[in-house]
Amino acid sequence: MNSSAEPLLDALTTEEKAALCSGGSFWQTRAIERLGIPALLLTDGPHGLRKQAGGADHVGLQASIAATCFPSAAGLACSWNTELLTEVGSALGLEARAEGVHVLLGPGVNIKRHPLGGRNFEYFSEDPFLSGVLAAAWINGLQRQGVGASLKHFAVNNHEHGRMVVDAVLDERTLREIYLPAFEHAIKTARPWTVMCAYNKLNGTYLSENALLLNQILRDEWGFGGLVLSDWGAVNDRVRALQAGMDLEMPTSGEVNTRRILAALASGDLPMATLDQAVVRLLALIDRSQRSPAALPNELPDKLPDNLLETNHALARCAAEQACVLLRNESGRLPLSPSGRIAVIGQLAEDTRYQGSGSSQINPSRLEQPLQAIRDFVDERAHIDFAPGYSVGGQTSDALQAEAYDLLEAADVAVVFLGLPPAYESEGFDREHMHLPSGQLTLLDALLPLADKLVVVLQNGAPVALPFAEQVPAILETYLGGQAGASALARILFGDANPCGKLAETFPLAADDAASAPFFPGGLRQSQYCEALWVGYRYFATAGVPVRYPFGHGLSYTRFEYSDLAVEPGDASSDTAVASVSFSITNTGDRAGAEVAQVYIGQRHPSLPRPARELKHFARLQLEPGQQRRVSLALNRRAFAYWDSGTSAWRAEADIFRIEVGASSADIRLTGQLTLAEGPARRPQPAGLAPYADPASRQFDRAAFEALLGHPVPVPVPARPYHLNSTLGEVQATWLGRQLKNIMAQQAGKTLNDDASESARRMIEAIVEEMPLRNLVTHSEGKLSPGLMRAMIHIMNHDWRKLLRRAPEQAR
Ligand code: BGC
Repeated sequence: MNSSAEPLLDALTTEEKAALCSGGSFWQTRAIERLGIPALLLTDGPHGLRKQAGGADHVGLQASIAATCFPSAAGLACSWNTELLTEVGSALGLEARAEGVHVLLGPGVNIKRHPLGGRNFEYFSEDPFLSGVLAAAWINGLQRQGVGASLKHFAVNNHEHGRMVVDAVLDERTLREIYLPAFEHAIKTARPWTVMCAYNKLNGTYLSENALLLNQILRDEWGFGGLVLSDWGAVNDRVRALQAGMDLEMPTSGEVNTRRILAALASGDLPMATLDQAVVRLLALIDRSQRSPAALPNELPDKLPDNLLETNHALARCAAEQACVLLRNESGRLPLSPSGRIAVIGQLAEDTRYQGSGSSQINPSRLEQPLQAIRDFVDERAHIDFAPGYSVGGQTSDALQAEAYDLLEAADVAVVFLGLPPAYESEGFDREHMHLPSGQLTLLDALLPLADKLVVVLQNGAPVALPFAEQVPAILETYLGGQAGASALARILFGDANPCGKLAETFPLAADDAASAPFFPGGLRQSQYCEALWVGYRYFATAGVPVRYPFGHGLSYTRFEYSDLAVEPGDASSDTAVASVSFSITNTGDRAGAEVAQVYIGQRHPSLPRPARELKHFARLQLEPGQQRRVSLALNRRAFAYWDSGTSAWRAEADIFRIEVGASSADIRLTGQLTLAEGPARRPQPAGLAPYADPASRQFDRAAFEALLGHPVPVPVPARPYHLNSTLGEVQATWLGRQLKNIMAQQAGKTLNDDASESARRMIEAIVEEMPLRNLVTHSEGKLSPGLMRAMIHIMNHDWRKLLRRAPEQAR
């Protein structure tokens, strides 16, 4: 036990211990004043601080204090720059400290299983290695400031539809190789103070009460010593959650769950030692976050810089620059010369889309707009004209198109802004398709006769279909660039900065091309991960499916040459340096720039189907024109291994491995190989997995999936009879259910003001529709008592016998 926690634990009454396991308010833990135990303040994250001073909500509807809005994770990830991520984490830590925030709820490392995941903009990548490395860098920066991170959403929370009740069904190997390693790496190398469990179920068990994930994998296997907290409203059964290692329920549920804990102690269902363990973890977190900055291991200024927001705005600009990915640049269309007549087209140039909707939505301390930033940049040197071309929602008209075309005709060049309106991607619901708004596409079509003059700038949180890609000379992806994205863009457009971002996800030609498409998102109650390992480039590269832009792709205003690959076996008995990969990169162009060289590995004759290539390392190098640098990267044994479900262990077989160094997953520049002499021998492939060995066939049918799972696909929880996890959408088939849903909709509607955005309305609708009945009890902090809820469920089920038999108990 933590030594400082021990005396406090002894001093706490059982009631106080039970109470500490649930929040004290929406954003705070409970204080025990008589013992001087303070309340901790937790706020969202992850790309800025969302500290709410007044009304509280978990989806970004009500006001929050001004804070720096950094690019969201999808963009930050394209930097592949761990130093930058650490700086951003550290800057967030300083803002958190200035606001008395103890834990910042991020980063999110869920894998982008499919391009239409509603929260993809908040996550780093489709690749677990890249996600883990970036998350660890961010956490290191944040925690260096004495503010705790909350690594989320643990785990397999890859879409929004039904997130409160859905069961993600997948095989152990896919879990270990795709959905857990980002968490694992961040836990082992950056030691986040807290982990947030996800809303959904995994293989039949809610993550909030999943002993396999929380107690066994996270704690016993990976050595996590911190606190596990619930996502907001993720607790299903409070007692089971404690038993599984979920320490702190957030937000407050009033006394409802405290009473349940006390009852379980009294009945002997819950050992006191289990409760004590959770309390000790909370006390240790409080202790950690109360240490004065001076007591922290690294040197911190006692006083926060006065100009923090200014400094962080500049860092947000630098991050946004590095987030930009130059997707296409025929005949050196970019950079532009800041001279002549430049047309700026598209309403997004005046109403920039710079962050996503939902719990990560923050109130930026400043906000730049691209049109103004371009004007400021060129100053007197060029003439800038603007035409909106379409409305904020993406609709166009003949008049808007004609105005834009006239401007283009008169101009030397046009920068056309296209992107997704907020209502297209948000927390709470998944995207319906990959298309840009039809009005934007119609506008672009109208401009295509003068295509040579066009530079397309994209603002979106996740891949979009780009049917015009081959017709325009230049496309620059800026993702959701944060509050200083506009000046970053101007610097890139005119060549003051050199784009160096590389995609952290594939841009497929169409959403249906993803191997997960037939199974995504799945039903309200079950999502079958039948595609298994075939996520993102692992599938596209192995199956040879053409994509618009591959994972790892990104151009530059300069050129890089790769040469002199050397693959050398290391110490065969070591797990950490099994091989070293060295190569040289030369900047052969005439500008300084950064290149991200990616190391992929593929096994020649694996016992089980494996992707043709998987990212196992990378290096980002800043090079002056003509400069050459040699890189040497060590590969550990794990880099060669797959997860062997039979023995529940990583298995690096004795075999030949291809080592590829690429400028993207589809642009391999150097190839070598390594023979692993030590390791288990290959063995015959188990029966029934043939479809997985031939991903191009996409025959991931039920039989193959069941062979992979090792058991039949479980039957999803039936909609009827209704139960505590029935959603309001389900029970609205009954009169009583409709009344409940209406009341909730009215209450939730009150959080929307008159000018609430369409995305906020859609999000509220989805949240109410998918809210499980259990949450009506906890959200109301017991005003709607558990007994009354049970009685209502009996009524909805027309189960009069149970209703009458349990009447006295229900009255409680
Ligand atoms: C989100 C979390 C967030 C929490 C608090 C939840 O709805 O899933 O990511 O941290 O709300 O706002």
